[in-house]
Amino acid sequence: MAAVEEKKKSKKRKNETPEERAARKALKKQKLLQPKPRSDSFSKPAALPQTERADASETSFAAFAKEHAVELSGSEPVPVVEFAKAPFNAACKQKLAKEGFAKPTPTQSVSWPLALTGTDLISIAKTGSGKTLGFLLPAFHRIEQKFERNSSTIAAPKIVVMAPTRELALQIASDAAKFAPCFGATTACCYGGAPKWEQIKKLRWLNNRGCVVATPGRLNDLQNQGKIFLNEVDVLVLDEADRMLDMGFEPQIREVVSRMPPRQTMLFTATWGKDVQKVARTLVSGEPTRVSFGDAASGKLTANKDVTQTVEIVESWRDKKVKAIERLKALHKDGSAKTIVFLATKRACDEVANELWYAGLKCDSIHGDKEQRERDRVIGQFRRNEVMCLIATDVAARGLDVSDVTNVVQIDFPAASGKAGVEDYIHRIGRTGRAGKKGEAHAYLTKDDIKANGRVLVAILRDAGQEVPAELAELTSRAGGKGGGKGGRGRGRGRGGFGRGRGRGGGFGKGQKRKW
Ligand SMILES: Nc1ncnc2c1ncn2[C@@H]1O[C@H](COP(=O)(O)OP(=O)(O)OP(=O)(O)O)[C@@H](O)[C@H]1O
Ligand SMILES: [Mg+2]
Repeated sequence: MAAVEEKKKSKKRKNETPEERAARKALKKQKLLQPKPRSDSFSKPAALPQTERADASETSFAAFAKEHAVELSGSEPVPVVEFAKAPFNAACKQKLAKEGFAKPTPTQSVSWPLALTGTDLISIAKTGSGKTLGFLLPAFHRIEQKFERNSSTIAAPKIVVMAPTRELALQIASDAAKFAPCFGATTACCYGGAPKWEQIKKLRWLNNRGCVVATPGRLNDLQNQGKIFLNEVDVLVLDEADRMLDMGFEPQIREVVSRMPPRQTMLFTATWGKDVQKVARTLVSGEPTRVSFGDAASGKLTANKDVTQTVEIVESWRDKKVKAIERLKALHKDGSAKTIVFLATKRACDEVANELWYAGLKCDSIHGDKEQRERDRVIGQFRRNEVMCLIATDVAARGLDVSDVTNVVQIDFPAASGKAGVEDYIHRIGRTGRAGKKGEAHAYLTKDDIKANGRVLVAILRDAGQEVPAELAELTSRAGGKGGGKGGRGRGRGRGGFGRGRGRGGGFGKGQKRKW
């Protein structure tokens, strides 16, 4: 019967006009994009096994919150202070031990039980505090509990994690791939700049507990082409959401999210600026649970106190470059330092990398002009300690987790002014001092930088108990209201970096795509 039908269909197709063929294909594509009914009924506050209830010996939330300066809007969880008390399966706990982790980080202690209730969640915690496993493990646990494993393969993930850069997507995907087998899940990673067909092949092999980590642009492309179906998504995570906005990804995020059914949405960030609050308002449900550590909830910027920050005032960009190169040579003299150096432009990255290379440093650069393969190679070498000094634009500022980075040197201060610039500064210095380790960060400031960001920076330094050079304190107090305002991205971009009139950098307004 089916064969007869098929024969009839193929005869009909042979006789169709080009217009009819185009119309048929368009209809097929539209059908592909139509969300199909989900195979399960969505249950928001999922009836999943929770953390065991607190007994007298357990840390109460109040005590934990006091110790770790946790602010919470929503019902109080029982903090998971040891892996044994987490509801994850034995394989996952074994894997955590194998990774050499002794206990959950404070972020995980609170984010896990909250995420497991199925609530939409906003979690704001300092850089390097373990946010990635903070969202991955409860997401995997959730789909393990909800979806009986079967033998089907389908490009319809249950978990989608969106991240701003390819490097970050790859890093999260690598963490996901480590833990997925514990939950019978499979993973795929989709990002621009690499062949689509390889990614499509991996998507097709996802099982019914699939997890996709993607940058918004590529994810949107793939769903428009009918290569990935988002109608089964049960958990959506937005990592570094504000940076995705800053890079101009808002339309793609919205389009992607509009294809998803009701689900649990989680947003994880280290800073709680205006931009991220805006996304949170529109993408996360009306009543999300919000948890923050330190002062972050108030929108106040705070830096990781495990990083010792020093700043130095210089006359010009040339002055910065000469001083920075001397500093880097000294740092790398005995071979123990591992450094990330930030610069504003791709050209400057290559210029500084060349000078350091000729000075004998094992260094390389990454920026938006380099091919993805090249960027992956450099990051890989940096991870394996084959390159000890990474020179980068802001493409490496967010989320990048490379173990044992001892120093961050900012030759160029972030280009945005006021709070937005200092927010970028905080993310950059957060590449060191991760997972409880200590780190050092050094930044060079021209008078222009001080005008644009000085007051906010001084507040950050003071808050983190760092030394504020007398000259900086003096200059910022003299500047009156300047440099302390809300600031914004795109204002003054290109400023300071190379001196005006050298034609580098160049401003762009909010909403325009940022190119690194
Ligand atoms: N429980 C734990 N104990 C010790 N180390 C951990 C634990 N959980 C995660 N880590 C490690 O801590 C490091 C930082 O984690 P992660 O990258 O998730 O931080 P983050 O909070 O997302 O930082 P950022 O804000 O910079 O993105 C990683 O190397 C990770 O493997
Ligand atoms: Mg992160």
